[in-house]
Amino acid sequence: MTQRMLSALALLTCVACAEAPTATYADVEPILAENCMACHAEDGSSGVSLDGYQAASSLSDRMVARAVDAEGGAMPPSGLVLSAEQEELLIAWEEAGAPE
Ligand code: HEC
Repeated sequence: MTQRMLSALALLTCVACAEAPTATYADVEPILAENCMACHAEDGSSGVSLDGYQAASSLSDRMVARAVDAEGGAMPPSGLVLSAEQEELLIAWEEAGAPE
């Protein structure tokens, strides 16, 4: 392999690294606000609060299960689905241990 190809590869690897940042609650909160809070506010109709960091982080694995994998019934139940980008953020946050 030539030196030039090697540096191109190194560059690509760095770009991939930069594109996989760890998501924090600040990234996830707007997604929840837009898609989930209608039913999952503190006194929401679902009876399950995802409001605020404590509530959301304690259910991060269930959020991925329901909103990404539709396991046990899709969330939101309305037929609306998260965008691929929103799903990736939610998964990245969950996998990082749901950091604040
Ligand atoms: C139209 C109302 C509505 C919306 C919008 C909604 N949910 Fe739900 N959700 C419910 C109801 C009702 C339940 C309780 C019954 C059940 O579990 O299906 C529930 C339960 C849950 C649970 C707990 C149950 C479990 O499987 O552990 C999670 C987690 C959840 N929803 C995540 C989400 C996420 C994430 C979003 C947004 C992407 C969302 N929901 C949007 C109505 C909604």
